[in-house]
Amino acid sequence: MTTMVLLLFLLLLTFSSIGAADELSPYYYYDSCPLAEEIVRQNVAAAVYRDPTMAASLLRLQFHDCFVLGCDASLLLDDAGGIVSEKNAVPNLNSVQGFEVIDRIKDVLEEACPLTVSCADIITIVARDAVHLRGGPNWKVYLGRKDSLKASISAANRMIPAPNFTLEMLISNFQDQGLDIVDLVSLSGSHTIGRSRCLSFKSRLYGQELDKEMEERSSDFFDSLRSVCPQSGRDNALIPLDLKTSRKFDNEYYLNLIRGEGLLQSDNELVYQETEETILRLVWAYAEDQELFFRHFTSSIIKMGNINVLTGNEGEVRHNCRYVNSYYH
Ligand code: HEM
Repeated sequence: MTTMVLLLFLLLLTFSSIGAADELSPYYYYDSCPLAEEIVRQNVAAAVYRDPTMAASLLRLQFHDCFVLGCDASLLLDDAGGIVSEKNAVPNLNSVQGFEVIDRIKDVLEEACPLTVSCADIITIVARDAVHLRGGPNWKVYLGRKDSLKASISAANRMIPAPNFTLEMLISNFQDQGLDIVDLVSLSGSHTIGRSRCLSFKSRLYGQELDKEMEERSSDFFDSLRSVCPQSGRDNALIPLDLKTSRKFDNEYYLNLIRGEGLLQSDNELVYQETEETILRLVWAYAEDQELFFRHFTSSIIKMGNINVLTGNEGEVRHNCRYVNSYYH
């Protein structure tokens, strides 16, 4: 009897989480704000035209939002009215950017269709547009998310993977979000654009955690990193995650990995000698076939966009992405 109740409970749980993502639709704003996607697209294009490095920052926003209690724009909330902002969590502080671009888009959308388009959906559309603008794939975004009423700095510290994670930690971190090995390998390909601070990979270059495999396999790469990132100081100097084609969303990231030239330890974990066969095979497959990478990336980012979404009467559509609506009353 207890087993039956437990089974029923598990079944309900499964359906309730799938149910929320199931309520998303590409046509969600078709009547209520038909120009929503076009408004976002134009503003992302303008922002990336002004600053091409912004594309990577905008893509990363979706990852750092979705991995912390779901794709609910909790990342965008500032410290105010009892909210402790996720922006000050270790993986975000002095690193995550692009909030002003989201503000600008939200302002225009509030003019066009007040209290209609959620900040969580804006993040999702923006990430898609940023990838496409840099030469990556294009896809239909599923919409209808609501915004959270809270943020969690402790969850941000706990759930966003760190650059020194081992493969085992990365796999389990992704599994906690319902994401599998294909998602891990294809989404890591986001590091085909954007930059990292020396701080995030310096431990591979010096001292106890020195990465001997990198030093042996690609000494030129190793020496060039050491010359830009000295043992002390210059922690905030920025290095492209994909040194070959840092502004282009392509499959060069995987070719870098195979050459032993992935920048972060977490990147290289996908190709270390002891890395399991399935992962190595995916890395090689993406390196050889960009279209396959694009197809897998597309389905994985859509899957990531479904993590614990709020729909229907859950949450709210914020008026300003930085504050919950009750803050104004
Ligand atoms: C697999 C685990 C991952 C780890 C450990 C990781 C870690 C990092 C780190 C440490 C940086 C550099 C931050 C800095 O030094 O300021 C970075 C940058 C970046 N990450 Fe990841 N990341 C991971 C997965 C992802 C995923 C899944 C995405 C997107 C879907 C993503 C998108 C990006 C982008 C686009 C940048 C460049 C940001 C910019 O230039 O502003 N990362 N990541």
